Amino acid sequence: MDANQPDSIIGGKSFTAVAVNCAAKAGEWIKSKMGSITQLDTKYSMHDLVTEVDKGAERMIRNLIATHFPTHSFLGEEGVEPGPEASAKALQEVSDSEYLWIVDPVDGTTNYVHGFPFYSVSIALAHRGQVIVGVVYDPSRDELFVAERGKGAYVHGRKMKVSEESSLNHSLLATGFPADQHVALPANLKGIQALAPKVRNLRVAGSAALHLAYVAAGRLSGFWEYNLSAWDIAAGSLLIEEAGGRLSDVAGQPYHLAVRNITATNGLVHDELIQELHTAANT
Ligand code: IPD
Ligand code: CA
Ligand code: CA
Repeated sequence: MDANQPDSIIGGKSFTAVAVNCAAKAGEWIKSKMGSITQLDTKYSMHDLVTEVDKGAERMIRNLIATHFPTHSFLGEEGVEPGPEASAKALQEVSDSEYLWIVDPVDGTTNYVHGFPFYSVSIALAHRGQVIVGVVYDPSRDELFVAERGKGAYVHGRKMKVSEESSLNHSLLATGFPADQHVALPANLKGIQALAPKVRNLRVAGSAALHLAYVAAGRLSGFWEYNLSAWDIAAGSLLIEEAGGRLSDVAGQPYHLAVRNITATNGLVHDELIQELHTAANT
């Protein structure tokens, strides 16, 4: 066996099976708690929310993973201090891990709190820094998006393929309104202003991980957002790669776990989107 290749099964349970199980269990619990939250706090800014459900779901996922893979490292949003610097530092601290689970227990907490049914559980497993399993689960629609490196990406057991639009004027793009008001939000707003007249339309639905899954499923032509964290992107990145799409930072450099300014597309509109974002950033 090649010593550089990850074993995908240890102790009888595959990495993907554990990831799927965690996402499904946590997702079901999260959905059951909708509308009955008792603790709502803000973190980095008034736009960055956390509830007892985010924390409970992360604990549930962390415990389940530790039961199966006690030697693996874990990076979850709720175990990290708020803010971009802390999240970059937390990733740096575990970057030498052989196996690293990267988890956002509820991506789209603002939606969740308001009862807007677009939020997700995002779980990735990286082997020496490369994502090898990605699972994004949407409890509202009971949609499970799963990818294993080299084995394709699936939703409802159907193989996913990115969309075929080859120019921005036929594209449906998505982005976000980042919690960081100083750098990321103004940068994103510039992009929105530049792109809105040039694309078929834009969506800002409030879960980066689910937006990425939608790019993989061919429901969106592309997505970009500034200042996301590894747990927002990692699982979705593999879904897109395995569905034939392309990811990079907004300058066009290849995606890796520390990339925070992400561009993800069907591949065909990638260069055009990067060019537009570049022009927008410099005007
Ligand atoms: C947020 C969502 C949102 C994006 C923000 C993220 P959270 O994650 O993905 O769509 O615009 O930048 O922080 O806080 O709900 O896990
Ligand atoms: Ca998130
Ligand atoms: Ca979250």
